[in-house]
Amino acid sequence: MKAIDIRNKYLNFFEKHGHKVIPSSPLIPENDPSVLFTTAGMQPLVPYLMGEKHPEGTRLVDYQKCLRTNDIDEVGDNRHLTYFEMLGNWSLGDYFKEESIKMSYEFLTQELGIDPDKLSVTCFAGDEEVPRDTASAEIWKKMGIPEDRIYFFGKDNNWWIAGEEGPCGPDTEMFLDTGKPACSEHCDPSCDCGKYVEIWNNVFMEFYKTKDGGITKLKQRNVDTGLGLERMAMLLQGKKTPFEIELFAPIMDELAKLQKVDSIESRRIVTEHLRASIMIVADGGRPSNIDRGYILRRLIRRMTRHLNKLQVDLGELANLIELDIETLKEMYPYLVEKKDVIKQVIIEEKDKFVKTLDHGEKEFEKMINKAKQENKTVIDGYTMFKLYETYGFPPEITSDLAKEKGFTVDASEFDKLFKEHQEKSRLGSGQKFKGGLGEQNEQTIKYHTATHLLHKALQIVLGEHATQNGSNITVERLRFDFNHPQKMTPEEIKKVEDIVNEQIKRDLPVTCEEMTLEEARKSGAIGLFENKYGDKVKVYTIGDFSKEICGGPHVTHTGELGHFKIKKEESSSAGVRRIKAILE
Ligand code: ALA
Repeated sequence: MKAIDIRNKYLNFFEKHGHKVIPSSPLIPENDPSVLFTTAGMQPLVPYLMGEKHPEGTRLVDYQKCLRTNDIDEVGDNRHLTYFEMLGNWSLGDYFKEESIKMSYEFLTQELGIDPDKLSVTCFAGDEEVPRDTASAEIWKKMGIPEDRIYFFGKDNNWWIAGEEGPCGPDTEMFLDTGKPACSEHCDPSCDCGKYVEIWNNVFMEFYKTKDGGITKLKQRNVDTGLGLERMAMLLQGKKTPFEIELFAPIMDELAKLQKVDSIESRRIVTEHLRASIMIVADGGRPSNIDRGYILRRLIRRMTRHLNKLQVDLGELANLIELDIETLKEMYPYLVEKKDVIKQVIIEEKDKFVKTLDHGEKEFEKMINKAKQENKTVIDGYTMFKLYETYGFPPEITSDLAKEKGFTVDASEFDKLFKEHQEKSRLGSGQKFKGGLGEQNEQTIKYHTATHLLHKALQIVLGEHATQNGSNITVERLRFDFNHPQKMTPEEIKKVEDIVNEQIKRDLPVTCEEMTLEEARKSGAIGLFENKYGDKVKVYTIGDFSKEICGGPHVTHTGELGHFKIKKEESSSAGVRRIKAILE
């Protein structure tokens, strides 16, 4: 069964059982900067798990695009993926253990045709805070799972929470026995040997873990489930690794044709990282040196390194991206219309990296030779840091290369030096920030308000994708970076200017309200959602024209602004345009 068929069966099955199908949220969380990427289907649903009413009701189902970054360096083995799709169904204070387990069992055995004799399940063993989940075990027994295939484990295995704080609870997990012989007499579903593969996790989310580590009860009892689509496709197709299913095989095969040196590990890394990069870029991610941008940068860099290892001509990257989009378009049709920007961003980053790599690799060789002469087996943190600081050579690449040459690295010393470096630059930027605030005068305040008018006007003229990417204001001008794949036409520029000037002429009042981030989002406010859920934010409203989250300050009426003129429209980076504008 193809992945898309599993996805469709899943949505249909739960729809039949009274669930509303909701769309996947973007991979880059819309209003939660506390996490880099969406890592589970429940993440966008946190407010509703905590009791807020969901507009679609109390039974939901979706497929969610997810990215988990803890295991990037493991990708290349026979199972790890960064990007994956999670099928999930939720009860928001509706059904609980019995119905949830029953539906899972029915879906697995009847819809997917899995042999019930190959299923094992695990339940929460209980501890001093939360009792043993005998209820789930009893329900499994009623379904026909014999007692010797029902296991109990503690919090390490059968408790689920995203991060440190939030909704959580005991879970029951389903495993498929692959038929591999047991690795020892103690082999069970908690064992990593590959005999048992986890296929589904139903979390009974009735608790909330607070910051201080305490556990309280949520207002309602929820169910949150997650089924990894690629893994399920692999099992149903009788494959040994996910790289053999239809979502990866075309790229794996193409690489095998293009490569001059064979390495299945490198082919998997390229295939996996290419897909993840495409998905991130399509959802608006761009490479940078921090946070999300840095993860994307690392993925593209590592992919490039392994293309080099396979001795695949890097000029093939454009074709590989095309082929991947072709492969993925049935699952994600929107990739087709984003093809150009995806290619542009990934190839531009690859080009940048090739330059760094050429230079850094030479320096790396010199350092390795020196280390050899000195009979060392460890690359010290100082050397790693020097490669990073002087040549922009990323530590994970130093570490990769060192490993290939039989060296280890002192990553903790590197981390220490890196932190010191960061601290220094943080102090630097802190001072700059203070200086900036010192300059807050009448003119910069006007530019601030003009920026809001510009942001909204761009969205009207170019479309909703034209969101803010950065902004900088001096007494002389405003600079505004926004997401847009191509150069603006003179007509578009004129239209934007006209719209802004019209709002100035209307002399609209500017008002400010404080509300929670969630309320701001609901009110339709745009802006960079840089605050955490629950935080109070300021929302500035300009007449009936714009509503934006912002710290301020602003003028009180747009009539104060004067005449708005765009002086320059240029590229800032791939997929991002930059406008410089003045008030005359
Ligand atoms: N939130 C649960 C998981 O990610 C279902 O496994």
